[in-house]
Amino acid sequence: MNKDFFSTNRRTLIEKNGGGVIVLSAFTRMQRASDYAAQFEQEKNFWWLTGIDAPDWQLIIDGSRHKCWLVAPLVSDINHTFDGSLSTADAIRMSGIDSVVSHDEATDLLHALAKKHSVVYTLGDHPHLEYFDFVLNPTPKKLWVKLDRLFTTVRDCRKDLSALRAIKQSEEISAMRQAIDLTIEGFGLVKKKLPELSYEYEVEAEFSYLFRRRGAAGHAYDPIIAGGKNACTLHYDTNADKLKKRELVMMDVGARHYGYSADITRTYAVGQPTKRQMAVHSAVQSAHHEIVALLRPGLDIREYHGQTDKIMIKVLMGLGLMSQVDDKDAYRTYFPHAISHGLGLDTHDSLGGPQYFQPGMVLTVEPGIYIPKEGIGVRIEDDILITTSGHDNLSGKLSTDL
Ligand code: GLY
Ligand code: MN
Ligand code: MN
Repeated sequence: MNKDFFSTNRRTLIEKNGGGVIVLSAFTRMQRASDYAAQFEQEKNFWWLTGIDAPDWQLIIDGSRHKCWLVAPLVSDINHTFDGSLSTADAIRMSGIDSVVSHDEATDLLHALAKKHSVVYTLGDHPHLEYFDFVLNPTPKKLWVKLDRLFTTVRDCRKDLSALRAIKQSEEISAMRQAIDLTIEGFGLVKKKLPELSYEYEVEAEFSYLFRRRGAAGHAYDPIIAGGKNACTLHYDTNADKLKKRELVMMDVGARHYGYSADITRTYAVGQPTKRQMAVHSAVQSAHHEIVALLRPGLDIREYHGQTDKIMIKVLMGLGLMSQVDDKDAYRTYFPHAISHGLGLDTHDSLGGPQYFQPGMVLTVEPGIYIPKEGIGVRIEDDILITTSGHDNLSGKLSTDL
């Protein structure tokens, strides 16, 4: 991505927002262990607007004048020696914003903006916060609190950003295609080598080696390589068990390339599959096929979910896992997660809460059936671009067969 991409994004945000004051923060670095930081991962809205992949920067936009400033963090000499830091010249080159101010200057600037504008926009809480069992990166909240002291009203611009980011531009689709193609290549290699791989971590290593060797950033999320019943733990990522003959192995893997994520799942057999494993796989495969076929622009998203439920209930009944169509408990026991999510910079990108699918949206389709007492978990996941005439299955060239 070059600076034109980021300046276009700022312009479309200003237009959507109606010309107000918008202030956003980068994430800060987080502790990994005692005196050691975790690998830095940027707040994706901030990156989409600036291209800056360094911690603690801020962006101030005065939409009424189409004027933007970057706020540079104070980096001590010792931190610079150990971790390096982004130079002002590089920040300007990447973002296309030529005004860079210090934190003190930014506070003066915000005071001046607050005299003319009573409302300021920044990033509010994530909509699914109540389900999180981890500590949040603190910078967006800290910024909200600071702005709340300076301006009369602070408003959330997350929805506007999500809606804009949901419609992928051509360079974003091209980055996603590269992440997806690389991940497909990994699945191809693993499928061929599976008879000689004995542990889940050996499968993981095949993907990791390929991704880094090809210059991708690595995995977009912790890969799931789950043999047998491990596949029934939805976020299993220990990847340490032995692969056993006559069990399935479910692999949920995505490279990150040029900032964008792939998110693909296939389930393969280790040795000769049992009849039951084949039946469960074939049920998921046929549901997957039917659900992908629904996708087109203009499809009402509630209608999509209604159709999806019908298809999943049909295949669960076919396997004898549900006996009545309205048995919600059984339905959620055997298919406990969402059918789709947006995909992009974030592996779980928001689609911006639209009523209908629109061209340019990219989402996953990932039906799964999980039967812990039988040690069987099957998921098949593809990455689908909504086009003007229907859809393009970006990972469709990878066979979904067992
Ligand atoms: N890999 C995470 C997901 O499929 O949503
Ligand atoms: Mn997914
Ligand atoms: Mn996945």
